[in-house]
Amino acid sequence: MAVQINPSILSADFARLADEAKAVEGADWLHVDVMDNHFVPNLTLGTPIVEALAKATDTPLDCHLMIEEPDRWAPAYVEAGAGSVTFHAEAAAAPVRLAREIRAKGARASMALKPATPVEQYEDLLPELDMLLIMTVEPGFGGQAFLDIMLPKIRRTRQLVAKHGLDLWVQVDGGVSAETVERCAEAGADVFVAGSAVYGAKDPASAVRGLRGQAEA
Ligand code: DX5
Ligand code: ZN
Repeated sequence: MAVQINPSILSADFARLADEAKAVEGADWLHVDVMDNHFVPNLTLGTPIVEALAKATDTPLDCHLMIEEPDRWAPAYVEAGAGSVTFHAEAAAAPVRLAREIRAKGARASMALKPATPVEQYEDLLPELDMLLIMTVEPGFGGQAFLDIMLPKIRRTRQLVAKHGLDLWVQVDGGVSAETVERCAEAGADVFVAGSAVYGAKDPASAVRGLRGQAEA
């Protein structure tokens, strides 16, 4: 199980996004949080900035859409240059159709679950996905405390992946840091999003290396 570290630019300096993207070269993906003030009480960025970022960095973009109506908007993020597009299960009207559309357009298809959404409900859909994102905070803001109560869900997801013999990445997002990354890895996560733990550090690239070392241990 190869470990991947995806810094979240939500905690970066939005006035210097190209430089901030370069500051974490060596990261596997750049995590881009799209928020619409409806699905979550915060507003960030849309396709024009994703398009500009895709040109500014060689690191592939992992777009996490915290938006209503992802069925309508998600395909445009593939066109804007995202290599992976995550929509929320709670917001998608037709998640199977949407995952297939994202894949057909050439990106990895991923679905996210808020803390209160059980993974078991989506067991039959997992083969349609390249990644499942388990939120370890309520989505909307960086810098929140990691929810330990999500560890059993990570574990159960890893068991479902094994049970069905799937090649599905298990991503965790929210409160991932030097204090929590080992617990997530031990529970079965293999893709780690970290915002404040990377961009809040003096040397973001070294924070990425540190998290990778801990997750691999
Ligand atoms: C929160 C976002 C996260 C956020 C994580 O809703 O989805 O990606 O940037 O930030 P940290 O790592 O600071 O919890
Ligand atoms: Zn995110």
